[in-house]
Amino acid sequence: PEKPRPYRIGFSQCSTQGIWRQAVLDGMKRELSFHPEVELRMLDAKDNSQRQSQQIRELLRGGIDLLIVSPYEAVPVTPAVEEAFRSGVPVLLLDRRITSQQYTAYVGGDNEAVGETAARYAASLLHERGNVLEIQGALKSSATAGRHRGFRRALAAFPGLHVVAEVIGNWNITTMKPALKTALQAHPEVSLVFAHNDNMARSAAEVLNELGLSKKVRLIGVDGLALDLVERGVLKASLLYSPAGEDAIRMALKILNHQSFPRENKLSTVVIDSTNVLMMMQQREKILTQQKDIELQHGLLQTLQATYASQQTILYGLLAT
Ligand code: FRU
Repeated sequence: PEKPRPYRIGFSQCSTQGIWRQAVLDGMKRELSFHPEVELRMLDAKDNSQRQSQQIRELLRGGIDLLIVSPYEAVPVTPAVEEAFRSGVPVLLLDRRITSQQYTAYVGGDNEAVGETAARYAASLLHERGNVLEIQGALKSSATAGRHRGFRRALAAFPGLHVVAEVIGNWNITTMKPALKTALQAHPEVSLVFAHNDNMARSAAEVLNELGLSKKVRLIGVDGLALDLVERGVLKASLLYSPAGEDAIRMALKILNHQSFPRENKLSTVVIDSTNVLMMMQQREKILTQQKDIELQHGLLQTLQATYASQQTILYGLLAT
């Protein structure tokens, strides 16, 4: 019998920097190892929306059955994603959004809930009184907008809490450090810093340390991956933001197989702090071991298949003579 044509999924990833993006890919690979009929082609836009738009078009030209895209910035990446959608290729948005409704489904964390949960956690840490500094991600990323909105909205319920300064961190650390230093020096009243991801929280910790403020200023991050920092108390908390790699592949397959699926798939967040960080670390370890086991079995299976294929060849050879 003729083998079915494999599904080709194109993945336009805004960046491959950092452990969160790595976790996305690891999750995808874990799920894909159960689906050898699926081919995944990923292109890395390296935090550049123009490059990302070109890469989406390149994936389309190469021929794909479905596009997974995590847009760097919402507005500039929207037209290329719309092109894909209008050409009939289903589009699955992963973690970040575009500005239009021309997509098939969304899967990823709930950024507003992340911001809201951070605000409530900050309020309890500060006993509802204090001054806050917010470090935002890239301003045009939808995740930044969501986290910011949720944070401000929930904070408004606490009249004793004030955001006195804001730093744009662009998700990474290069420009963020000097800006944060200046802001903290101008605002010695700050008692808590909320960073939109753990990457920036990590550098914020270094700045606090340099300024001798580590004891005075509490720090909260997002992603739930800098568990070492939470364990050491450098971060008071990190909010889980599920990388959703497995979920994305499962969703993609549902779409491709014409099964029913919810259009909006927002994954919940949870506070990771000193009370549950050890459990989270154990879980992480377990997943990593399972992943290694899966890879090992995969290797064994391939060896077996190769042996079987060559035995078949010999057999057919014998039969032919
Ligand atoms: C990685 C990242 C994560 C963050 C997500 C938001 O590129 O910045 O740290 O949670 O993207 O989209």
